Parts: sequence; C-alpha cells; structure tokens
Amino acid sequence: MKRILTGDRPTGKLHLGHYVGSLKNRVRLQDEYECFFIVADLHTLTTKPELKDTQELKENIYQMVLDYLSVGIDPEKATIYVQSQIAEVAELAIIFGNLTTVPRLERMPTLKDVMRDAHITIPSYGLLGYPVLQAADILMVRSHLVPVGKDQVSHIEITREIAREFNRVYGKSSQSTSEESKPTSEVSGQVFPVPEALVPEDLGILPGTDGKAKMSKSAGNVINLSDTAGEVEKKVMNMYTDPKRIHATDPGRVEGNPVFIYLDAFGPENLKSQISNLKSRYTKGQVGDIEVKKFLVKVLNNFLDPIRKSRARFERDPELVERILKEGTEKARSEAQKTLEEVKKAMKLDYFMD
Ligand code: TRP
Repeated sequence: MKRILTGDRPTGKLHLGHYVGSLKNRVRLQDEYECFFIVADLHTLTTKPELKDTQELKENIYQMVLDYLSVGIDPEKATIYVQSQIAEVAELAIIFGNLTTVPRLERMPTLKDVMRDAHITIPSYGLLGYPVLQAADILMVRSHLVPVGKDQVSHIEITREIAREFNRVYGKSSQSTSEESKPTSEVSGQVFPVPEALVPEDLGILPGTDGKAKMSKSAGNVINLSDTAGEVEKKVMNMYTDPKRIHATDPGRVEGNPVFIYLDAFGPENLKSQISNLKSRYTKGQVGDIEVKKFLVKVLNNFLDPIRKSRARFERDPELVERILKEGTEKARSEAQKTLEEVKKAMKLDYFMD
C-alpha cells in the first residue's frame, strides 16, 4: 500500500478552513493509503522558540489531536505521532542539511513570507532549515504522497531534490541503466522514493468570516471545529457578506460571498435546492442577510454537532488520547529507525552496528 505523510504545526485549535482544505481529505485518504499524520512541534520552534511558546505546545498538541479524532481520523487506520519524540527526525535532518545549499534555502518563497508575517529580519539557522526538517519528516517514513496546500509545494519540491540527491550520492543502482526508466520509487537499491505533492483544488480554500481570502487564527476570522453552537451563531451573524448591499431589497452578489461559500461547502445534499433558491432570491434582492445567516447557522451547527459529540467523548478520556499518541509515536519511531539504519548503511556510517 502506498504511503502518505502530512501534518500540521500545533498552534492551537483547528478551524473550518482546515477541515475543507485538508482534514476532510485525510479522512478519505486513510482508507486508501497507509497514512502518517505528524504533529510537527519542532517546526514551531523556527518562529517561536521562547519558553512562553514552547510551554504551550503540550496543550496545543492535545487540542489539535482532539480535532483530528473528532472529525474522524481513525487511529486504527492512521498513525498520529509527535515529531519531537522521535530523535531520528533530527538525525536525518542533520544529514540532509549537507545535501542542499544555503542559497537554495534562502530562495524559498515561504521563508520571505514567514519572515514578513513573524517580523523576523534575520532568519535563524533553524528557520532557514525549515524545509530540510520537513524533508526529514517526509522521507523518514518513505512517503510516496504528501497532501499539502499550495503554499507548501515548494517544500515538497526541495524534498524531492534531497531524495534524488541522496539516492544519487549513496544509492546503489545509480550506475544501472536498465532501471532508469522506472520511477525512482521503484528502483531497487534506492533508499528513498521521490515523493509527490497532492494539492487540493482552489475550491478547497475557505474565506474568513471577514471576507478575507483565507481563514487564519492570526486574522481572527475563523470558526473553530470546537466552537459552541452559540459561538458559531455569533460569528455568523457578524459575518461579512456583500458590502454593497444595504437593504434586503438591493440585489446581492453570491459569487465570492463567504456566506454562500460556506453554504456550498457545508450544506448537505438534501438542502442543495433550498440553497440555490436562497441564492437566486439573494441576487434579486428578495431575501435579507439575516435570514440567510440564520440558515447558515443551522447548517453549520448541524455539521458540527457530531464533531462536537465525538470531541466530548475523547475529552472525557484524556488517557485514551495520550495512548493514541504514544502508540502512534512508537510506530513512527520504528519506521524511523529502520530508515536511519538503511541510510547509515548506504552512507557507510554503519560502523559498529551489526
Ligand atoms: N510545514 C507544514 C505546514 O506548515 C507542516 C509540516 C511539517 C508538514 N512537516 C510536514 C506537512 C511534513 C507535510 C509533510 O503546514
């Protein structure tokens, strides 16, 4: 079975944007692939290395894993694990750091974005090495596919370069011509498959409640998966809609209107005709924002109710959550150890191991 690795930095609770952009897809993928979901806590250090930040990681990890479990990521099918608890990740990152250059890392578009957003003027060694650490995550479990957003594609690209470079420098079959036409992942003697990014279509991006292009915690425009029905109601009733529309009788715009984008994303099949009816009344100025928003509150709360119930079940059993993480981490660690052993063998670093 093909392998998948993806994950998130534990920065807190996840929101509807995460659901539409990735979680929903992961729930589907876990049936078709051997999935590993990494809680990338080491990556948070690249912008937040202070104790005040690191001391929050434990709670953030717990909350994020509750979100994973409550939307249906199933620990019986997928492996959820904590990056910092696997020493081999760091070891592999040290090795990979020698297979890429500083200018290559300085050119990463994500570096500029992160520096701007986090008000960093001079990057640390760790921040510069962010994509190298991510390559270690991905290659450590020898993943074939990496589901990520568009913004992460450059990281998968550098991971591919590192995998190819490792295979070229240390792989056995680089001399054999007969195998050259096969995809690298199937070439024998190669330590790493060259992974591919699995990027969702643009439809997968949910705007914020303020109408901005993306939900993001820092923008304060999110609806969390763990929000109560009351919180959802408050946020929706304050949502941005069509700014040009002042009276309910003004013709409104449906395209790009976050209220309708959410209705399309979360409205179940049996409400589709009601939604399209609302849209046409909205366009003609025959329905007020309040009515549409009230309808959206219902739709979202119906969608979130089972997720809330499931979350509450896991919340009542923190030991179970801990066990899931422990077992997942052990499984990932044993994969990591196998990989590291092969890596060292290929590099002739297997001195006193036998
Ligand atoms: N960099 C990713 C993000 O910010 C998180 C991440 C860390 C990741 N390691 C990964 C994603 C490995 C995919 C594969 O979203």
